[in-house]
Amino acid sequence: MGERRRYSRAMTADDGTSNTGLYRHPYPSPELAARHAFVELEHDRLSTEEMAARCTAFRETLDRRRSVRMFSDEPIPADIIETAIMAASSAPSGAHRQPWRFVMTNDPDLKRRIRLAAEEEERTNYLENRMNDEWQEALAPLGTDHHKEFLEIAPWIVVLFEERFGVANDGSKIPNYYVKESCGIAAGFFIAALHMAGLCTLTHTPTPMRFLNEVLERPDNERPFVLFPVGRPLSGTQVPDIRRKRSDEVIVRRGA
Ligand SMILES: Cc1cc2nc3c(=O)[nH]c(=O)nc-3n(C[C@H](O)[C@H](O)[C@H](O)COP(=O)(O)O)c2cc1C
Repeated sequence: MGERRRYSRAMTADDGTSNTGLYRHPYPSPELAARHAFVELEHDRLSTEEMAARCTAFRETLDRRRSVRMFSDEPIPADIIETAIMAASSAPSGAHRQPWRFVMTNDPDLKRRIRLAAEEEERTNYLENRMNDEWQEALAPLGTDHHKEFLEIAPWIVVLFEERFGVANDGSKIPNYYVKESCGIAAGFFIAALHMAGLCTLTHTPTPMRFLNEVLERPDNERPFVLFPVGRPLSGTQVPDIRRKRSDEVIVRRGA
C-alpha cells in the first residue's frame, strides 16, 4: 500500500495516464514482449462528465431489464442472436480459454423436445419435492412452476454449455480454468446484449439439465450452464413486482 501511494504521488503527466515511471515492473517486460505478441490498447479517453453520463445511462438501461416468462412467437432474425452471442464471447475468461459453446435453435421439433424434457425435470423439482420447502418458498413470489410452454413459443432457444475441458486432436484433455466464473460473465454479457437489442430472455435452469446434451447432440466435455429462451415479450406481459437492493445494501466502501 505504501508503495502504491508513493507511485501515485509521482504521477505528473497531464492526463495522469502516461507516466511509465509509475511502474518498476512494466507489463509486458522486455523479455515477455520478445516472446509473445502485444499490441497497444485501443482506448477512448473520456472526460469525467462523459464517464458519469455513459455509466448512468447504461445503469438505467440495465435496470429496465426483466426476466420474461411469456414470449411472443414473432420470428427474430438469426443474425441478431449470433451477434448477441459474439458479444457474450467477448467476455474475459480464465487463461483466455473461452470455455463456452452457445447452441441456438429455432427448430420447432427441438424446442418441443426441450420443453417436454424440461417439464419432466421441473415436475420432479416442484411436485415431488426435489426442491426443498425453503427453496419453494423463496420461489413463491415469482410464481414459477413446472409449466414451460414458453420454451416452444419463444422463437429461439439458446443454450450456453460450459466446456469443462478442451479436447486435442489426439483426444487428450486440455484443461480449462475458472470455467463457471467465465461462463457466468459470458452469460451476463449475453443477457445485456439481448436487452440492448430490445429482446427479452429468461435465465432458465431446469435442473438437472443433462438432457440438453442428448437433445442438442453435444459431447461429454460440455455441460449445460444456462438455457435462454429469447424473443420479444408477449404484449401485456406481467413480471413480479420485485425490488432491487439499494446501493447501500450492495456497495461497501473502504478508504477515502
Ligand atoms: C442462475 C439463475 C438461474 C435461474 N433459473 C431460473 C429458472 O429456472 N426459472 C425461472 O423462472 N427463473 C430463473 N431465474 C430468473 C430469476 O428468478 C430472476 O432473475 C429473478 O427473479 C430476478 O428477476 P429479474 O431477472 O426480472 O430481475 C434464474 C436466474 C439466475 C441468475
